[in-house]
Amino acid sequence: MAENYYDSQRGASEYLLMHYGAAELGWPAGWAKAGALDFPARCVSSGLDAARLPAQARALDLGCAVGRSSFELARHCAEVIGLDFSQRFIALAERLRQRGSLRFKSFEEGDLTKARRALVPSDIDRRRVKFEVGNATRLRTDLGSFDVILMANLIDRLNSPLQCLERLAGLIRPGGQLIVASPYTWLASYTPRRNWLGGIARGGRPVRTFDALRRILSPHFKLARRLDLPFLIREHARKYQLGISEASTWVRR
Ligand SMILES: C[S@@+](CC[C@H](N)C(=O)[O-])C[C@H]1O[C@@H](n2cnc3c(N)ncnc32)[C@H](O)[C@@H]1O
Repeated sequence: MAENYYDSQRGASEYLLMHYGAAELGWPAGWAKAGALDFPARCVSSGLDAARLPAQARALDLGCAVGRSSFELARHCAEVIGLDFSQRFIALAERLRQRGSLRFKSFEEGDLTKARRALVPSDIDRRRVKFEVGNATRLRTDLGSFDVILMANLIDRLNSPLQCLERLAGLIRPGGQLIVASPYTWLASYTPRRNWLGGIARGGRPVRTFDALRRILSPHFKLARRLDLPFLIREHARKYQLGISEASTWVRR
């Protein structure tokens, strides 16, 4: 069976660079100008209305990968749970939580790699964050309730995004915020076509993912903001993936 990219060394290297590499690397100038760096931090700084949060707020970062958004949520929330399916990603996030930094290698050209360092910003209280391995479509029942749930670039990687979204109203407190960011890259290898929320024609009509999100979430949530958030994944020194996620923030009624 093919190795799961999110549990591979290459996936770990690419996500550590994406989450913690903005300061580390001499990025080609255009990417910084395009606002494509630090996507996991911008999901929080642009997606969250921090002024709405109560004291002692709780946050859940679903599909947290190597954890940068979870740490950014800890700037505003007293308790953050970062949850991901990948044991490798969670082990790296946990090491960052304990030590504040870790050394890793980026892929440069073929087999050639370069030593790098991932660093959690020093003004973040890492004790507020907990990481755990879990499945966003089968969340444990004793998670409690939250003032913020972030799903960054997750829905189009789930087998059943609807199953996950339907659980959220029961997890978010009234006035709490749900941030869904996604480039809507639907692939049958992650999500069976019948479970795609959008990017498909049904009854001869095109179905857009944002419209499906609005239909699914509207009974319990009100749309508060909707914006484009570019992101950049560096595969090696001369190959990058540029994506543009749509981030929508929904407030629990
Ligand atoms: C495209 S990455 C996005 C990671 C991170 N949120 C970001 O924005 O950089 C998708 C992440 O979702 C995780 N994932 C995939 N299926 C999952 C599931 N069923 N439950 C929890 N996490 C899952 C993957 O391991 C991976 O870390």
